[in-house]
Amino acid sequence: MKNYLVTGGAGFIGANFVKYLLKKHSDIQIVVLDDLTYAGNLGTIKDDLADPRLSFVKGNITDSAVVASIFEKQPIDLLINFAAESHVDRSIENPQLFLQTNILGTQNLLDTAKKYWTTGKDENGYPIYREGVKYLQVSTDEVYGSLGETGYFTETTPLDPRSPYSASKTGADLIVMAYSETYKLPVNITRCSNNYGPYHFPEKLIPLIINNILEGKKLPVYGDGSNVRDWLYVEDHCKAIDLVALNGRTGEVYNIGGHNEKRNIDIVRLTIATIRRLMEENPAYKKALKSPSSDDISWINDNLITFVKDRLGHDQRYAIDPAKITRELGWYPETRFEDGIVKTIRWYLENQDWVKEVTSGEYQHYYEEMYGNR
Ligand code: NAD
Ligand code: TYD
Repeated sequence: MKNYLVTGGAGFIGANFVKYLLKKHSDIQIVVLDDLTYAGNLGTIKDDLADPRLSFVKGNITDSAVVASIFEKQPIDLLINFAAESHVDRSIENPQLFLQTNILGTQNLLDTAKKYWTTGKDENGYPIYREGVKYLQVSTDEVYGSLGETGYFTETTPLDPRSPYSASKTGADLIVMAYSETYKLPVNITRCSNNYGPYHFPEKLIPLIINNILEGKKLPVYGDGSNVRDWLYVEDHCKAIDLVALNGRTGEVYNIGGHNEKRNIDIVRLTIATIRRLMEENPAYKKALKSPSSDDISWINDNLITFVKDRLGHDQRYAIDPAKITRELGWYPETRFEDGIVKTIRWYLENQDWVKEVTSGEYQHYYEEMYGNR
């Protein structure tokens, strides 16, 4: 049996990962540690918490007493760290919180894992660890910086972060590698491209666009919309993390990406067209519209797009070369973007209660500050 500690398990990818683990493996125990920031929502894993294999602790990854108390209660084998401040725009407004959570939080998790996993010392003074333990850091392709029109990020691409968010994730990666070298702690780092799918908080591009269409609002595209992201369906990402956690070579970095490069403007246009098509095919979906709530949906068109001031230091293009994880672990992205985006949009149309829950409160204030009344 494996005991997992999943931090950030009430957020977008962490919650999808918890659901994936519960479906995939029977002989496991999972503790989720999450501080339930604006991005964390216990409702996302409410039904899963009825499963006796899953338990929840509310707490901050920077709090050493909280993390230690989890290791005291059960013998954790695999620590998967999703917890992070994850939004580039917010990092531009408040960099310090990103450094605290993403760097110091990671260091606190590493220290606690090292302490509880150590069983002795070898003749050179390196710690010896309990069999089968591993720390997995969920990182991002943004640590590699920005690409021009050609080329891909590989695991050996030099780290060159540009935003406070990506700089904090890079800092965390370097600390993880330092623990691997200095203390021989068994670790992996995964670096994935932009995820999309169910339970994505609507401050990120795809869910924000869906949500704005349903609210009859303008669709803000930064700059000229030519920036490129490499989109990965969240379940494909979860599968990759599971493979790396169980079979990845210790000390290695694995890039996870979908070969699904799209310009932002094309994503926005496709989302508009897909929502309209789904509503035309199934008029019951129109119930998800907040305003205007008429039967005529001809207003759902590209005229909703508004080009707004560009993000400061906006990275132009991300694109992952996933050859290493494919070669070593047999992983490949199973979901074609054309299918994944339809599944995602359907999910939002059918789960407006979840959207309402996460967008009440702090979200309204954030949206006003970021976008005004556009
Ligand atoms: P998210 O913002 O949706 O969720 C983050 C979760 O962490 C939330 O539940 C939040 O409550 C929790 N959290 C934040 N600070 C915490 C703290 N100090 N202590 C405990 N819990 C805390 O993020 P996500 O999109 O699910 O991303 C998960 C991880 O994947 C992050 O590390 C992120 O950097 C990385 N990542 C995300 C993407 C993406 O496209 N979403 C791409 C690459 C990498
Ligand atoms: P985002 O989802 O914030 O992810 P990241 O910045 O980590 O890649 O943004 C994805 C792309 O979409 C990015 O190039 C910025 C752009 N974007 C917009 O054009 N408008 C928006 O309202 C948002 C949130 C993002």
